[in-house]
Amino acid sequence: ATITYIEHSGETHKIHVENGKTLMQGAVDNLIEGILGDCGGCCNCATCHVMVDDAWVSKTGSPSEQESELLDAVPEPTETSRLGCQIIVSDDLDGLIVRLPEEQF
Ligand code: FES
Repeated sequence: ATITYIEHSGETHKIHVENGKTLMQGAVDNLIEGILGDCGGCCNCATCHVMVDDAWVSKTGSPSEQESELLDAVPEPTETSRLGCQIIVSDDLDGLIVRLPEEQF
């Protein structure tokens, strides 16, 4: 699927991410600086914070309990904040837009 990551600076990366990979993995593979993914995707570091574009929230779903707890600890959580390692890319998400926070911790 094609995913657009918009860095805090406004720099935009429109990239192809293979289905089955996570948004975090897609960003790390493509050297997008705004996502760190320190824990490797096990939902316990919260350095893969993304803000899902409003229009896409219904497609990406809502965070699990563990994810929500971690999101409480990110620097500037928003209504549409998610952890990038908990969103798995599929054809349904083709065209998805996410914004990246200024800082991951
Ligand atoms: Fe660590 Fe997502 S990569 S919580």
